[in-house]
Amino acid sequence: MNSEKIRKTFLSFFEDKDHKVIPSASLVPENDPSVLFTTAGMQPLAPYLLGETHPLGKRLVNVQKCIRTGDIDAIGDNTHLTFFEMMGNWSLGDYFKNEAIGWSFELLTSKERGFGLDPRRLYVTVFEGDENAPKDDESFNIWKEIFDKNGVAGERIYFMGAKSNWWSAGGNGPCGPDTEMFYDLTGSLTSGMTKEEYLKADEEQRVVEIWNNVFMEYEKKNGKVIGRLPQKNVDTGSGLERVTSVIQGKNSVFETDLFLPIIQKIQSISKTKDMRAERIIADHLRTAVFMIADGVNPSNTDRGYVLRRLIRRAVRYTDLVNMEDGGLKLIIETIQSTYKNTYPEITLGSIISVITEEEQKFRKTLQEGLKQFEKFIPQGYITGANASMLAFTFGLPKELTIELAQEKGLEFRDEGEFEEELKKHRELSRAGSEQKFKGGLANTSEQTIKLHTAHHLLLSALQKVLGKEVKQKGSNITEERLRIDFSFSRKLTPDELNAVENIVNEHIKSDLPVIRREMHRIEAETLGAEMEFGTKYPEIVSIYFIEDKDGNAVSKEFCGGPHVKNTGVLGKFKIQKEESVSAGIRRIKATLT
Ligand code: SER
Repeated sequence: MNSEKIRKTFLSFFEDKDHKVIPSASLVPENDPSVLFTTAGMQPLAPYLLGETHPLGKRLVNVQKCIRTGDIDAIGDNTHLTFFEMMGNWSLGDYFKNEAIGWSFELLTSKERGFGLDPRRLYVTVFEGDENAPKDDESFNIWKEIFDKNGVAGERIYFMGAKSNWWSAGGNGPCGPDTEMFYDLTGSLTSGMTKEEYLKADEEQRVVEIWNNVFMEYEKKNGKVIGRLPQKNVDTGSGLERVTSVIQGKNSVFETDLFLPIIQKIQSISKTKDMRAERIIADHLRTAVFMIADGVNPSNTDRGYVLRRLIRRAVRYTDLVNMEDGGLKLIIETIQSTYKNTYPEITLGSIISVITEEEQKFRKTLQEGLKQFEKFIPQGYITGANASMLAFTFGLPKELTIELAQEKGLEFRDEGEFEEELKKHRELSRAGSEQKFKGGLANTSEQTIKLHTAHHLLLSALQKVLGKEVKQKGSNITEERLRIDFSFSRKLTPDELNAVENIVNEHIKSDLPVIRREMHRIEAETLGAEMEFGTKYPEIVSIYFIEDKDGNAVSKEFCGGPHVKNTGVLGKFKIQKEESVSAGIRRIKATLT
């Protein structure tokens, strides 16, 4: 079964069970501006898991594009990836454990309706209980009954702690215990395993996780479980790449039809064979292509920095395999043709130019790094501290410094200083990203909601002062301030900034109602509601209107909310800063006091 058929089978299996298919949200979170990327299928659905009504009902199914770069150093093994597609079925306060587990088993093992995997190679974990929630005997019993009924013998259900069997995205939002399904890659573990044997098999990657069903009935605030949600939800996630590798009987995601053409292309244009390097190039460029398709541009901060790092790392590895000039373009073309049927947003021309421009910039940086390197030649050796300075100040990767040192006959003396600097560097960037997370996924604090409404007012004021062609290009909201990136070609004058600020404050003073309406996407488009660049919207959408006393829309935007009910509660709006982000994109930071 090829990957396209696997996606289709997943979606249609759940459509038959009355689920509505929803499109993948953008990789750039739309209503959750405080996280960098969409990291799980539940992220764009968080408001609905918390209780908001979804326009398409209580049963949904999707394939969500996700990015997780936390394990970037592990890329090159059989399973890790920085971009992946997550297939998921969703119950928003509708069915619960029985159906969710039963359907997972049916879809995984049915030869007629599903993937036809061998049930004897299936192993599952369930939550053992802790101070937040009881032991999940219910899921255990459901699994036991299913295995018994299907004649699948042997020990294969294991109780595990919160570390592996509790799911939440960050410190805020919906969460709950989960049951995870693992598949035996070897085909030799069909008669069951003790828990010790299973743990060892997992560690040695002889079994891999292929599906996770989260029973989201709890809520977290500031890192603590604070109680139950008003509704019991199911959030399931099955990584397409991993499922594809087990269905296609491959040991690695890179051998599946999702990657093979890309890997083969890399091999055909490289002089040196290096499996790890080939995988890193394929993974990083694939992720870069999807990021750019969703509107991300390389830069030195936030999303742009992650993209920059991926492209530059890929370029380094293309050098390592001695790739022919112009190779990046050929790989990008192969990625596009592998994914074009499912993701038509991948437009070749602009993606190739963003990536090749970044390559050129990187090569210039490298030259600068090399010049700096040469200054150390007279000293006769290179220390770990020198290498870290070259890496973190001039972007010269450590492995390149070591290679150069060897070439020049310089000894590389590192007493752990490099690691120490690296640790400091990582802590700094981790602190940065945790900070970003704090404002949080599903962060519905009062101040964040207010800033979100002010954000809508600001966009409409900008359009009023600067022209309708001003479009939102990005946003970010923390407890303290809002940030908007928008298309405009020059610095705003003090008069323009004043005018924008005054319009927003006028609209606040007038205490305008904020109204959510559900409507057909076409209708919303016809009304000219503001849309987020790079986002695919479902048939039925939610639009937030802010209306003046005559019922004229001051602002109308595609948005999942939440928002305040009336603008009067927002307080005083103040623009703190206006600056350039990149050519043609400006940024404003503003507060409410
Ligand atoms: N949220 C869970 C995960 O990402 C299941 O979808 O693994």
